Amino acid sequence: MTPPLRLGIAGLGTVGTGLVRIVQTNGEMIARRAGRAIEIVAVSARSRTRNRGVDISGYDWEDDPVELARRADVDLVVELMGGENGPAKALTEAALEGGKDVVTANKALLAIHGQALAEAAEAAGRALRFEAAVAGGIPVVKALSEGLAGNRITRIKGVMNGTCNYILTRMEDAGLPYETVFDEANQLGFLESDPTLDVGGIDAAHKLTLLAAIAFGVRPDFDAISLGGIERISIEDIRAAADLGLRIKLLGVAQMTGRGLEQSMTPCLVPADSPLGQLKGGTNMVVIEGDAVEQVILRGPGAGAGPTASAVMGDVIDIARGTRLPVFGQPATTLESAFTARAMGSKPWYLRMGLQDKPGALAKVAEALGNAGVSINRMRQYGHQDTRAPVLIITHKTTRDAIDHALGLAMQTGVVMGAPVALAIEED
Ligand code: HSE
Repeated sequence: MTPPLRLGIAGLGTVGTGLVRIVQTNGEMIARRAGRAIEIVAVSARSRTRNRGVDISGYDWEDDPVELARRADVDLVVELMGGENGPAKALTEAALEGGKDVVTANKALLAIHGQALAEAAEAAGRALRFEAAVAGGIPVVKALSEGLAGNRITRIKGVMNGTCNYILTRMEDAGLPYETVFDEANQLGFLESDPTLDVGGIDAAHKLTLLAAIAFGVRPDFDAISLGGIERISIEDIRAAADLGLRIKLLGVAQMTGRGLEQSMTPCLVPADSPLGQLKGGTNMVVIEGDAVEQVILRGPGAGAGPTASAVMGDVIDIARGTRLPVFGQPATTLESAFTARAMGSKPWYLRMGLQDKPGALAKVAEALGNAGVSINRMRQYGHQDTRAPVLIITHKTTRDAIDHALGLAMQTGVVMGAPVALAIEED
């Protein structure tokens, strides 16, 4: 009879509590599937007495999560504390050093320290699994590293932050400004304790970093991602996009090109009737393209107790079964440092800027775009505000570099008021 797999859980917030509930509710079924019982031995969290709606009285308590990781009666440490440094990192290192497997939901930790931790885990012959770190309940890490392992992955794109998707869809559905919906999301408890992680695109970029490492066999490199948040998206942008049959999404794209690995997490426009355009609220979607499989679309809840704990439990069961996989789909020492390429693909762009409402202002901007080789497809002036004339421009297909150059020239004309908004239109 295989002995039980003994868990130590560090962090009893939403996800930790969800995990305890799954173990308590589905324990017998999980034991049959895993071929052995899975038991919680000890837990650690900030507050011992907080009412979490689950009974933790049967588990040992550790004030210090690192001590939890060092316990001789713990086989597998589940890290659900979060944070790229501090206790989460110390606990993970201590667990691996002590010969224990680790399951984590911590995208920041792995996006920044993933290479070192993966090498440490593999050198020690231990598992380090992170399904719950990417896209909540969607088993996308498993899909990429197992089901699609025979493919040369050509592109990954997706919406991987539910809070941003909630804000953008709620702005459109209710016709509300960004600030109002941001406050609403905050009151609903959707935002991370540092909201910049969500609305600045950082959380989603951490997730893309991890997927790109598996998909393209590269070292996780968060700094290689071209990053932009949704803070400057206005209700005017949402309405203008809708008029054009488009929707704004915080979209991650990673693709290997002849020039290197292009990675971005930025607000983009997508066709409103496409799968990504149809995505509402906190749902996530990841589109994976491979040379053999063509295209796979995964869609599901990106956060929350049940969905994220479901992903954690999937990893725990794999470890209980004895499944051992390299952390990023191939031995960490064989991951390459990717050459980071600027996005050179040619796409239409959406530009919004405020111009001084005076003769010749529009002509100067049009000339600036022309001098940068950017051709205007459509243009509209709307809703004059005193001396400010807002202008929307849709360009013909062009590169990000050309757009940056054009906007630089436009700013030099002296007629542009404030910083322009520039969004790529992702048509395919
Ligand atoms: N804050 C994230 C989101 C969930 O809104 O999708 C955890 O990564």
